[in-house]
Amino acid sequence: MANRKVEKRQITGPYVGIIGLGYVGLPLAREFCRGGAKVLGFDINSKTVALINRRKSPIKHISNATMAEMIGSGQFRATDDMSQLSKPDALLICVPTPLTKNREPDLQYVESTSRMIARYLRKGQLVVLESTTYPGTTREVMLPILEQSGLKVEKDFFLAFSPEREDPGNRQFRTATIPKVVGGYGPESLQRALDVYRYAIETLVPVGTCEVAEAAKILENTYRCINIALVNELKMLFDRMGVDVWEVIRAAGTKPFGFSAFYPGPGLGGHCIPIDPFYLTWKARQYGLATQFIELAGQINTSMPHYVVARVTDALNERRKSLKGSRVLVLGLAYKPDIDDVRESPSLELIELLQEKGARVDYNDPYIPQTHKQREHDLRMKSKKLTARTLAGYDVVLIATNHSDYDYRWIVKNAQLVVDTRNATAGVRTGRSKIVKA
Ligand SMILES: NC(=O)c1ccc[n+]([C@@H]2O[C@H](COP(=O)([O-])OP(=O)(O)OC[C@H]3O[C@@H](n4cnc5c(N)ncnc54)[C@H](O)[C@@H]3O)[C@@H](O)[C@H]2O)c1
Repeated sequence: MANRKVEKRQITGPYVGIIGLGYVGLPLAREFCRGGAKVLGFDINSKTVALINRRKSPIKHISNATMAEMIGSGQFRATDDMSQLSKPDALLICVPTPLTKNREPDLQYVESTSRMIARYLRKGQLVVLESTTYPGTTREVMLPILEQSGLKVEKDFFLAFSPEREDPGNRQFRTATIPKVVGGYGPESLQRALDVYRYAIETLVPVGTCEVAEAAKILENTYRCINIALVNELKMLFDRMGVDVWEVIRAAGTKPFGFSAFYPGPGLGGHCIPIDPFYLTWKARQYGLATQFIELAGQINTSMPHYVVARVTDALNERRKSLKGSRVLVLGLAYKPDIDDVRESPSLELIELLQEKGARVDYNDPYIPQTHKQREHDLRMKSKKLTARTLAGYDVVLIATNHSDYDYRWIVKNAQLVVDTRNATAGVRTGRSKIVKA
């Protein structure tokens, strides 16, 4: 499939450079190719570049067939040669924006990309930052670096911020159908950004400044972070009261206005929700303000893995077993269902906490055959094969990620005890006495 012949396609759109070929950059490149643009992808990781040029996808939700189509059509190729940055008409930056050890914004990737662009920037080029960051980054951090090229913004080159709203694993929306907010440094920059994005995105939402666009993205993610914290807190309370939080949310969700359902879990995961709100917290301190909602939500969400471990301990205790020495199988390492991304996944934290308490822990994840070193975790584990016998061999099976590939009825049937953090076993009728919600 990956090597099938693909017709060369006529290029009718702009020449776009996408910097950072990860979970955000690659789907964006795909949409530009579909829209008739020519795309040059840049990445500092030469292994990623080589893989892509061999028509293989580095991420699960872009297939090798899609990669073959993009490259085979003559519209897309990848490079780690940054001197080619002067070629495209527009450069869209999709590099990581993590936190430092002290939980402060780590803009090293945005800064190094900007320095690289400044070396090769030419007249007429448009530069757009897509990475999530605090309001002010484009103007205060990127612009001074780009102007070291000697070129002037809004006159010689153009600058905008347009946040990515990628949601890997979402079957309802894809990059092209998610409306895109665009903020320009000035009117000319905004217009040029809109002219480029219309080749890839169906609905564009122009806003007054880069700062509005930056703040809109942070608002979206902070809203999720806080609402998830709220239901996580309620989960702990309702559990003590003997009330099922999942049933409560289902009931409240029938209100046709004024309520959006959020769901509890074992903690927050992913590159965005646990991290982005703290970009704003850091910026707020410069204005002498504390973002109390964000801090509180952070505290609740980061305490969730501890709560889950306490529930596992209690469930074992009920069966006259101690966590120390018990065999635990964690199901799902990814931070959400049906994806292969483990960044900030609460499963990693769960495994470490369980190990610290003396449990013998394994994991299974159909999309993650082995663990790789993460910023804060290096588990060095391999996914265990799921069979009826292996399941039965564990004292407890802990559902951390509700991948839809799992057969939950079969899991409950064969496991001794199931602790379910995602309500994944809601539809299982038999063996309910073995299930503990957490
Ligand atoms: N993953 C998501 O679902 C998602 C959704 C919305 C927004 N975002 C935001 O988008 C940004 C990118 O996230 P991602 O998930 O795609 O990250 P990613 O880690 O999947 O991909 C980033 C890529 O950038 C490359 N890179 C790093 N520095 C570079 C440089 N100087 N030049 C060229 N390439 C470089 C890396 O090698 C990597 O391949 C982040 O700011 C993130 O917060 C992510």
